[in-house]
Amino acid sequence: MKYHIADMGLADRGKSSVDWANKSMPVLNSIKERFEREKPLKGVRVGACLHVTTETASLMDTLKAGGAEIALCASNPLSTQDHVAAYLVKYSGIPVFAIRGEDRDTYYGHISSVLDTKPNITMDDGADLVTMVHSERKELIPGIIGGTEETTTGVIRLRAMAADGVLQFPMIAVNDADTKHLFDNRYGTGQSTIDGIVRATNRLLAGSVFVVCGYGWCSRGVAMRAKGMGADVIVTEIDPIRALEAVMDGYRVMPIAEAAEIGDFFCTLTGNINVIRKEHFQVMKDGAIVSNSGHFNVELDIDGLKETAEYGGRIREHIDEYRLPDGRNIYLLAEGRLINLAAAEGHPSSVMDMSFANQALSAEYLTEFSKDLERVVYSVPTEIDREIARLKLRSLGVAIDSLTEEQKKYLNSWDMGT
Ligand code: ADE
Repeated sequence: MKYHIADMGLADRGKSSVDWANKSMPVLNSIKERFEREKPLKGVRVGACLHVTTETASLMDTLKAGGAEIALCASNPLSTQDHVAAYLVKYSGIPVFAIRGEDRDTYYGHISSVLDTKPNITMDDGADLVTMVHSERKELIPGIIGGTEETTTGVIRLRAMAADGVLQFPMIAVNDADTKHLFDNRYGTGQSTIDGIVRATNRLLAGSVFVVCGYGWCSRGVAMRAKGMGADVIVTEIDPIRALEAVMDGYRVMPIAEAAEIGDFFCTLTGNINVIRKEHFQVMKDGAIVSNSGHFNVELDIDGLKETAEYGGRIREHIDEYRLPDGRNIYLLAEGRLINLAAAEGHPSSVMDMSFANQALSAEYLTEFSKDLERVVYSVPTEIDREIARLKLRSLGVAIDSLTEEQKKYLNSWDMGT
């Protein structure tokens, strides 16, 4: 078996971390048990490009239990947990190509190694596999029945491909499932981003001015948690509806040019490029701490920062100092890469439980129904989404009501008034 990881000696540590994560993943565990019995993915090759974390290991073990052959690479050079990569190779027998801190060439080489296994299903977090298949590895297209995509950024890319008529196989947008973005993006990113910033800096958020760029589901989670820790939160937006929601949720909203002058912490989560630019860095306060929690490291104009400020060195793990000509310092976290996975461990297992249940069931759905699907981006079927919510509630010991016959009739009628 071919693989490329940092250190096989870390496998036992990886195993106990994965065991710990599994304790908070009841929905995925129940799918794994069914997969073990039914083998719905028998003979299907899955190529996965995901953050190599304990939760991803649980997903890989679930797919393998379902009969899939898997190869895994990282979806970000800085997010790999090397002990988990070692666990997957040693204990699960899964080829992993991922080393924390890998350079650009190694990162793309690893994606290529996964594609060398000729996957039938692609499983992406950021659309890197699909992009490479459509650009450099077109010969693989006939063997691919479809793919899944985990994140907002990837889904935006896929929709652009479908709109341009270039998408060559059906894709399922896992991100768009309610049991994914309403929980993973909001509560997962909310907690893990604050966790990353606090682990990297050990600074107090209470009493600080915390600028959140964007007000999508991820940014909402971060704004909510920063406020909960006592920060004065400012939101920047380009969408008038979202900006209005932020105002009514109790945040100050203003353009980044104004926020740049008063923020102590900055975090971008917009999915767009160059959200904080040179002119914004130039007006920041001495000591401003700047980070990104969006998928790609493009939201901060780091080249612009380097043009305007002199590199002062790595002053602490994950913190680079930049000195403006008048002596003010700006601190960049994790080289602008997603702070929640670079400086912390990503979203907690209990929220990834639902995201990865969507991934596992979407892979099963593609295996069964791909012949009926077009080359477009699909949502996760509503029945799957609702079943995941039901299973999660059950695991939490929460019961809910169901409609009475009378209520069902009322909802289907148009002639009953007061
Ligand atoms: N994305 C965010 N958090 C994650 C995690 N814990 N595992 C995999 N992907 C993630």
